[in-house]
Amino acid sequence: MRASCTLSLILDLFDAPRHPSWSVEIVNAKDDNNSLRPDQQRVEGTGGKDGQQAGQTTAEPFRPFHEKTIVFSGIQPTGVPHLGNYLGALRQWKLLHDNSAHPSLKGKKKPMQYFSVVDLHALTSEAPGPDRLRLRKESYAALLAIGLKNTRQTTLFFQSDVRYHTELMWILSTIASTGYLSRMTQWKSKLNLPDDANLDSDEATAKLKLGLFSYPVLQAADILLYEASLVPVGEDQLQHIEFARTLARGFNSHVKNSPDGSNVFRIPSAALSPAKRIMSLKRPTQKMSKSDSDPKSRILITDSYEDIHAKIRAAVTDSEPGISYDLEKRPGVSNLIEILRHVTTIAETPDTIAKDLQYMTMRGLKEMVADNIAECLSGIRENFLELMEPGNRTFYDEVSIGAGKAEQKARVTMRRVRESLGLNTFGTRLDTPKIDEVEDVGADGDANVNANDFNVGPIHPESDTDGPQTTEKAILEALQGIGQSYGGSYRVSAGGKDPSRKS
Ligand code: AMP
Ligand code: TRP
Repeated sequence: MRASCTLSLILDLFDAPRHPSWSVEIVNAKDDNNSLRPDQQRVEGTGGKDGQQAGQTTAEPFRPFHEKTIVFSGIQPTGVPHLGNYLGALRQWKLLHDNSAHPSLKGKKKPMQYFSVVDLHALTSEAPGPDRLRLRKESYAALLAIGLKNTRQTTLFFQSDVRYHTELMWILSTIASTGYLSRMTQWKSKLNLPDDANLDSDEATAKLKLGLFSYPVLQAADILLYEASLVPVGEDQLQHIEFARTLARGFNSHVKNSPDGSNVFRIPSAALSPAKRIMSLKRPTQKMSKSDSDPKSRILITDSYEDIHAKIRAAVTDSEPGISYDLEKRPGVSNLIEILRHVTTIAETPDTIAKDLQYMTMRGLKEMVADNIAECLSGIRENFLELMEPGNRTFYDEVSIGAGKAEQKARVTMRRVRESLGLNTFGTRLDTPKIDEVEDVGADGDANVNANDFNVGPIHPESDTDGPQTTEKAILEALQGIGQSYGGSYRVSAGGKDPSRKS
């Protein structure tokens, strides 16, 4: 399966320069004490070194650089992801996954990825048990269908299979500021409250449950448990990543140090995809979302060619002649151009693409967009259907392996956390492997893991000699790989060709 969408039938080639399509938002809180409007510094094509984030004015304690890039991200089990999820997050997961197996990255220096179906988060929305079970399975299978799987570098797991998430959440909640949480927007949007709603409002407190309010604390626990340095997410999640950073710093200074003298938590950075907000096909001023009651408002990554065409044909546009890009006046057409740009990974600006297609009919544009989406998602549907067949064991095997790997990593972090708080066990049963042992899962030279790969030999930290470079190099490698994915072109369907373009 392809990680990026290159096209087989190329009638037009943009001679466009490649641009770094992956940017890491270094979220730099102005006021370290819970500012909700951070100054964000964009670092194109490179990663921030944890502990030395760009724009930081004070020297922040940080864990040593010899540690590798660790990626963590999560998706709620609301069933099969849509095109917005795919372009805004999942495609980047797959690129990171592919990149981490690159032969130029050696052994322990290879980045690690943890991708989770965050089913505990989803408990903040109601769903009958049987539905939830099905949605969880579909969500995980969809991740497998896009080409992710448990390998030496990648762990794919259900959040609820690792009990440490809730344990760490409790611990973090003892230092989380309710003032900060009350200013965050997700609980308000979930409850259809205005952005300036606060806990003084009876309407808010009547509806608000503790789990929804403290959702960002659980998200911070997810990220910090795996020592993530990079968190690929869509733009809507930036606020949560900033909160996780604040909690990590807060905890580090709260406990001073872990028993080995280093910080307990690594400070994560958000990594944004170029496809920040794919809009609804029916209400193009709103984000494409799983919660929209109209299924025609979104393309699922498992939709058939026919469904994709039908949904794009029915997408809301306007009756103006020709094609142009204008987010204010023509949100529907502009969204289609954005989608075209992202599925084809064209490095041109939407404006340039629109100019290039200005003489096309709306019908022609829609046809072209649908063709390119189908091309981009090709293979996913077939993989998904195969994985969902009752006799297919792959899903169950992957779930078990992922749970085991994630558990091991999380357990080690929890031991550090517990010890930093003086919660060391007085018993002997909680003896756990060291971090590097956990990271070294997988038989040597074998990208795949199986359940027997978890018990590995002793660690040799002194072999990590070129530490500082390792993290940066790994991030750069990862970023370069992703950057290169934006150099595509689009395919023009028969009959829909733009007369103004040279063939
Ligand atoms: P969720 O479905 O809310 O669990 O989102 C999973 C990931 O997809 C998150 O990183 C979101 O930021 C991203 N995402 C969700 N909807 C969109 C969208 N319409 N456009 C771009 N990214 C999105
Ligand atoms: N809150 C995220 C969403 O709604 C999902 C999520 C949970 C997540 N935990 C995470 C994303 C940790 C990144 C990292 O999409």
